[in-house]
Amino acid sequence: MTAGTVIAVDGPAAAGKGTLARRLAAALGLPYLDTGLLYRAVGRRVLDRGADPRDAAEAEAAARSLTPDDLERPDLRGPMADMAASAVAAIPAVRAALLDFQRAFGRERGAVLDGRDIGTVVFPQAPVKLFVTASVEERARRRFLELRGRGVAADAAQVESEIRDRDAQDANRPVAPLRPAADAVMLDTTALDAEAAFVTALEMVRARLR
Ligand code: DC
Repeated sequence: MTAGTVIAVDGPAAAGKGTLARRLAAALGLPYLDTGLLYRAVGRRVLDRGADPRDAAEAEAAARSLTPDDLERPDLRGPMADMAASAVAAIPAVRAALLDFQRAFGRERGAVLDGRDIGTVVFPQAPVKLFVTASVEERARRRFLELRGRGVAADAAQVESEIRDRDAQDANRPVAPLRPAADAVMLDTTALDAEAAFVTALEMVRARLR
């Protein structure tokens, strides 16, 4: 029923898209791509060169020379990597450079892709689009617990302020801003744990595919 199907999972930072998309992919037998990792890897490469992630030429060169190994790096998460990813993601040439890879990935056998613009730009024809949200306070709480769980020292107020900054940067950029596709199904996970979010999302996907 789902072979070749593309499922778009978009939403703001720390809304639980990744966990949800990965589980949906496993349940539906589809490959999974975390597209945020592509922007994270580009941002990291720029930082490695000691350059500014807002520098369009540096960021485009990094995007064009990305390799699969870059996506395996252990340093793609954390405040610096988060903001660098969001900064390079606002550069049109970076987005263009990453578009073919994302489309080829999904086209081959179908896939679940999570990101910000999967349903609006990368796969506007996807038969199933979920837009996953949660309140900013709840997203900050989850990100704080995740950081602590990984042994990273974090300050709750600072985590929330970084999420607000990233929301603003991702939603207000002129190119492919974060926004739900007109035909997306909205899933607010503020009051749902990961299991309840998954069960609800799977039901939404099945309803769309019927
Ligand atoms: O999903 P994430 O938090 O790992 O994404 C990191 C950054 O990359 C995010 O701030 C916005 C950007 N991004 C994007 O612009 N488009 C995507 N499809 C995925 C991520």
